[in-house]
Order: sequence, then structure tokens, then C-alpha cells
Amino acid sequence: MEIVQVGVVGCGLMGSGIAEVCARAGYQVVVREVNTEFLEKGLGRIQKSLSKAVARGKATQEQADQALARIQGTVDLADLAHCDLVVEAAIENMATKKEIFAQLDGILPPHAILASNTSSLCITEMASVTQRGDKVLGIHFFNPVPVMPLIEFVRTILTSDETMAIVRQFGASLGKTMVTAKDTPGFIVNRLLIPYLLDAVRVYENGLATKEDIDTAIKLGLNHPMGPLTLLDFVGLDTCLFIADAMFEEYKDPRYAAPPLLRRMVLAGRLGRKSGRGFYEYT
Ligand code: CAA
Repeated sequence: MEIVQVGVVGCGLMGSGIAEVCARAGYQVVVREVNTEFLEKGLGRIQKSLSKAVARGKATQEQADQALARIQGTVDLADLAHCDLVVEAAIENMATKKEIFAQLDGILPPHAILASNTSSLCITEMASVTQRGDKVLGIHFFNPVPVMPLIEFVRTILTSDETMAIVRQFGASLGKTMVTAKDTPGFIVNRLLIPYLLDAVRVYENGLATKEDIDTAIKLGLNHPMGPLTLLDFVGLDTCLFIADAMFEEYKDPRYAAPPLLRRMVLAGRLGRKSGRGFYEYT
């Protein structure tokens, strides 16, 4: 099966990045948002990112224009009817995702593959509302999608070898390096990243060091591109809390228990870059 048209559900930070990389790799892309306001915002983000890619010499203006021309925005899920692969990148809510998966299962052609970009939710549960469990998997991209070279595939006990072979070809065509994990909360990256980020909040909460020193220590002591508190702001404190809660719910392991400060910062609206303030302030 050859993938020609890719559908993306959700045009937020992740969905817009996924739509962009697929279009840049030559796929026809249909991206769906829940309303025109969110859609316009998402398409604007793609345009901005493509301009940045041109400015950084990662693409020519012509390539960027062609990529943009391959992206069709819609607010109607039915417009994904001709897609060979759909990547769902909607909000991290199981009920919403199951509704989308059930609807897409009725809309898509029988050969189409249905993937979720979820960072922690159960892929098997999403597959359970479809009649195509063998064609369902997780395709987890990383933020910022055009820059981060990894894709994490999440294979359930139902996903077929054929589906895995097709998505591996797809991932390679995007220029990404791929790893495969079982369908367990956090997969590989977040299983290791989340306890680390939670520990960084605990260290800060306990007054061991200033936030700047914690970040500098990790940046320069371990050569990470960002310290953990900066990374929390970058990913979004609400997103990290959501993943931590999902992992704690499944494993009941204190390593995944969110520290009180993280929960209170989220309650106070200090979500990181997206809200203008998290551990640091953003103008
Ligand atoms: N398109 C293509 N390339 C782009 C681009 C775009 N829109 N924007 C930037 N780039 C390229 C730049 O040209 C540059 O490439 P070179 O190194 O070859 O010159 C590179 O990307 C870095 O760009 P910048 O110089 O603008 O940015 P930076 O050096 O300050 O790095 C960063 C920014 C990539 C975000 C870096 O700080 C970083 O890697 N941080 C960590 C990010 C991270 O950990 N992400 C994962 C979060 S976890 C997640 O996503 C999963 C989850 O489930 C929570």
C-alpha cells in the first residue's frame, strides 16, 4: 500500500508540525480542526515555521510554497475520506480520541492506517472502538516536529507486521529516525523523561538550588539543550502533569506522582511558554 494522502486531526502545536513535515516530504495533507479560528491559527503556525525553515536554509522558498500548497485545511472530518494514513493529534482526552477514532473508522477506506500522536494514552483502547485494530498504532512525534529527528512507534498486540512495515517506510520518507515501543503509558521517551522532570520540580520545591542553577547544571553538566525547568515550560506544565497523572494511574509508582508545586502551578494557569509564564516569564 502506498501512502499518498495523509490526514491530520488537530492543528495545534503538534498537529501543525506533523502536517508541515508530511507536506514537506511530498504528501498531500488534509488537516482538520474543530473550528475556523483554530484552523487559521494552526495554518498560520505552519506558514511561520516554513518561513523560518527558508530563513535557516533548510528549504528553498519554492519548496516551502509547494509544501504549503499541498496542505488543505478543513473543519469537517469527512474531508479525510481519501486518506491512506491519519495521524490524530487532538487534545489528550480519551473520550474525544475514541469518538474521533470511531468516526474515522466509518469514513476511511478499509486499507487506511489510523494512528494517534498521544504521549501517554492507551492506543489499544482507541483501537477497540474500530474494526481495524491491525491498522491502529501510535506515531509519536516530538516538539518542535520539524526539528526533532525522532518518531516513536507504539505497537499494540493487535497491530500487524504489514502496518508496521508501511509506517516505517513513511517515517523514513519524513527523514526521521524511528524506535518502537509497546503500548504502555509513556512509551520510551516519556517513561524516562517524566520522572526526571518531576524530580527537577521536587529539587526546586525543596529549595536545593535556584531554578536557574538547576537548569544551568543540567545544560552544562550533561550537555542537554535545555534544563528541566525550561523544558517543562517548553512542553507545557499542564501536558507534563497530564502525562504524569496517566502514568501514575497505571503504575501506582511514586516516581510518577506529581509534586504539589507542579499541580498548583497548573491550577494557577502558569503553564509555561503557552500562557506567558511558567517557571520563567515569556514576553
Ligand atoms: N524547520 C526546519 N528546521 C528548523 C526550523 C524549522 N521550522 N526551525 C529551526 N530549525 C533548525 C535550525 O535551522 C537549527 O538547525 P542547525 O542546528 O542545523 O542550524 C535547529 O533547528 C535548531 O534551531 P534554533 O537554532 O532555532 O534553535 P535552538 O538551537 O535554540 O534549539 C530547540 C531549539 C530545538 C527547541 C532546542 O532547544 C531543543 O532541542 N530543546 C529540547 C526540545 C525537546 O526536548 N523536545 C522534546 C520535548 S518532549 C515531547 O515533545 C514529547 C512529549 O510527549 C511531551
